[in-house]
Amino acid sequence: MGSQPSAAVENPSGRISFSNRLSIIAVAAGSAIGLGNIWKFPYIAGVNGGAAFIVVYLACICIIGLPVLTSEFIIGRRGQKNVIGSYVRLAGKSSPWLTGGFISLFCSATILSFYGVVAGWSLEYIVKALTNSFAGKTPAEVGGLFGSFVSSPLKPIIWQLVFMGITAAVICAGVKKGIERFSTVMMPLLLAIIVLLCIRSVTLPGAENGIAFLFKPDFSKLSAAGMLDALGHAFFTLSLGAGTMITYGSYFNKKEGLAATAVQVSVADTVIAILAGVAIFPAVFSFGLEPGAGPGLVFVTLPNVFAQMPGGYFFCILFFVLIAVAALTSSVSMLEVGVAYVTEDLGIDRVKATLLLTFLISFVGIFCSLSFGRLKELTFFSKNVFDLADFLVSNIGMPLAGMLSVLFVAWGLGRTNVEDEMSSGGSVPIGYLSAFMIVTKYLAPLGIAIVFLHSLGII
Ligand code: PHE
Repeated sequence: MGSQPSAAVENPSGRISFSNRLSIIAVAAGSAIGLGNIWKFPYIAGVNGGAAFIVVYLACICIIGLPVLTSEFIIGRRGQKNVIGSYVRLAGKSSPWLTGGFISLFCSATILSFYGVVAGWSLEYIVKALTNSFAGKTPAEVGGLFGSFVSSPLKPIIWQLVFMGITAAVICAGVKKGIERFSTVMMPLLLAIIVLLCIRSVTLPGAENGIAFLFKPDFSKLSAAGMLDALGHAFFTLSLGAGTMITYGSYFNKKEGLAATAVQVSVADTVIAILAGVAIFPAVFSFGLEPGAGPGLVFVTLPNVFAQMPGGYFFCILFFVLIAVAALTSSVSMLEVGVAYVTEDLGIDRVKATLLLTFLISFVGIFCSLSFGRLKELTFFSKNVFDLADFLVSNIGMPLAGMLSVLFVAWGLGRTNVEDEMSSGGSVPIGYLSAFMIVTKYLAPLGIAIVFLHSLGII
């Protein structure tokens, strides 16, 4: 569209919206805070030398994360529709910008297919923790437990389906009664659990070594690949390029300042990621274990830590509940992207749309789950199904869709529309508009392009 403000602006459009500011933060932070914060962030920080990695990561959140997040909120709230509908309304029916919407839709569904698998593991680990399965086991035995669980043909799939079922139930209940109510209850719970775990971790003997690992940067440990990991992770952790923040943005009321919301969500997301590090590393160091264990950090190293820690039985249960809760508020946001599209644009009712999409996504997810066992040998471009799905979205789809959303806002929507939407029709002061335009026009796209080319092995 040109630079004329669209009709969507004055129109509170009758679209359902979240009740208040607090719920907006809870749902958006609920989407952002997930396995990315509690499972992935600590282990990639661990393998990349801790504090130095965190410094780079914070810079990436500011330079790329914030502008893209704000852009996605702008598209959603101005479009007042699902991810595709919003692009159609703002750019026109046959506009090439629609590509961004379709890639986002694909990404949300694909992420959920493998996300549900790892989230399902956390449910099994809640049961393992409740039944005290790690007590008295050697680290090798705990590792073996994980290996045999993820490679077994049925159990992980059952847990994945249970997880998908809970996600679907929340979505069926609706935007306000489902998503909003669920996130506003779960997010304070999540915060309470993580604070408890942090207190336990930092009061262990030798905890200071873990704190130093997290907060004293040693840049000699940071490689170029680590820096690019930080960029890529900034994307994943803020749920960018998957249509979630566009869809949620369409449920924001017209009064809220979008940039302020983006800042608050990013701060909440970052604080939780760092708290996850504080809950994990001091304990890992206290028991002399390896901080750079990689993806097994949470499912192998930590159960070992809990098995030796005073009160470990209780904290182990809490930890896996924390992962499950964080994953659920994110998976709900992924499923809503597709459900909003199917209900609004294809005219299928909400329950049917939810069931249909849950079925399709879970079906693909089964292959992701089996790629740790029976289908290990099934590879494409030397990646198993799980890794392929992850690679396609994390390294290609999300950066591409995120890039398109920021470019669309800067170049397609244009300054007049952006000003109108960001200032909520003139009621929120936005002295930073010029800076925002420069960042969205040049800096953020350039940063994303670098991550993208790196992910593809081109640089
Ligand atoms: N941000 C979520 C996490 O950190 C993952 C996610 C990606 C959620 C994309 C929604 C969309 O775990």
